[in-house]
Amino acid sequence: MASALLVTGPDRIAAAAHRVMARCDELARVSAATGGIERVYLSPEHARVNRLAAEWMRELGMTTTQDAAGNQVGRLEAHSPDAPALLLGSHLDTVPDAGRFDGIAGVLMALEVVRLLRVPADADRWRSPLPFALEVVAFWDEEGTRFGKALLGSSAVAGVWHDDWWALTDADGTTLREAFVEFGLDPSRIGEAARRPDELVGYLEAHIEQGPELDQRGESLAVVSSIASARRFQLVVEGEARHAGGTPYERRRDALLGASEAALAVERVCRAEHHVIGTVGQLEAYPGAVNIVPGEARLSLDLRGEFDGSRDRVWSALSHEFDVIMGRRGLRWSAREVHAAPAVFCAPTLQGALRAGIVSTLPSGADEPAVLFSRAGHDGMVIGEVADVGMLFLRNPDGISHHPDEAVSEADVGFGIRALAEAVLQLAADR
Ligand code: GLV
Ligand code: MN
Ligand code: MN
Repeated sequence: MASALLVTGPDRIAAAAHRVMARCDELARVSAATGGIERVYLSPEHARVNRLAAEWMRELGMTTTQDAAGNQVGRLEAHSPDAPALLLGSHLDTVPDAGRFDGIAGVLMALEVVRLLRVPADADRWRSPLPFALEVVAFWDEEGTRFGKALLGSSAVAGVWHDDWWALTDADGTTLREAFVEFGLDPSRIGEAARRPDELVGYLEAHIEQGPELDQRGESLAVVSSIASARRFQLVVEGEARHAGGTPYERRRDALLGASEAALAVERVCRAEHHVIGTVGQLEAYPGAVNIVPGEARLSLDLRGEFDGSRDRVWSALSHEFDVIMGRRGLRWSAREVHAAPAVFCAPTLQGALRAGIVSTLPSGADEPAVLFSRAGHDGMVIGEVADVGMLFLRNPDGISHHPDEAVSEADVGFGIRALAEAVLQLAADR
């Protein structure tokens, strides 16, 4: 595919990739944790990182706003100020003890795409040369680390905010509503973050794969076909706390043992269902003393499936397993669903543009780019409510993510920036 961008030569792409890596390092230093990376929604780190992102957006000639949900947005107008916008972006919040690329690389790569594509509007202003404006969105709370509910920022943009989320609490008992106010946001204005479908051309996101497929194939980039559906639960198992020495086994109703069996059942049941995966990432025993049989256990359950149906089938099977396990042990169990998102299928036109973008980075005669479905969750899961979604995956060495060793190579970031920029040009050509 011949395109104007390829003519600009590799130096700008190499510089762009270098800047992305350096900025990922810079953002990694903005953390609530000493010796690790943790940046959660509506925290002082959120505010600091938004200020930095806004500065980088303004440097590119973009106008900036922090929207009503705390997402940082930059916009580069097209020739006509009424033109719809193509959204490019990802998220800047992290899991606890995170890597430095999950989400972050996608936001920074989007900025580099704007840098490559912008043209002078006049002596001191820049504009998009395309029939649409370019917007970079840095979403907040894709991960759900602070309030348990993921995709808060993108839900506000998609206009699917639920008022019952205001009562969600963090580990300190602060409600989402209180955290909004402390951060300087007005909960009553949350609706202002919502975007209308007619003002959006689509949403494109670059993200590390968070799995080993591209690494195993020896390829840099893939087109994403769909994003897995997800459900998250907080489960409580209730038994009876008693003396650890004095209570014979036949008198025990040990909640931790019930929860442990439940966690093993999650592995067994999910392994038996194609493309469904389940994880118990949190498990706590109460009252939590060495010499007390646990009277209560709390555990999380994260379920993902390529399709909603298979995910829901697994949840039904698990509910039955939990009934049997807890019944046998004299325990009670309950579950509160804290997050649910359907599978989202990437738009064929955006997949086609990304495919063309990837092909432009390959030697001629190379094999077709990989097409993968995303087992990880992404902001596109809810942005799909208001705009077509397309995603580009970057090779993630050893497939390790949500871990400090998470990596991506500068060379692959360069390929990714080129592919994304070419995909944007392809979309403009298609319109
Ligand atoms: C986000 O990274 C998720 O998939 O949980
Ligand atoms: Mn993540
Ligand atoms: Mn992510």
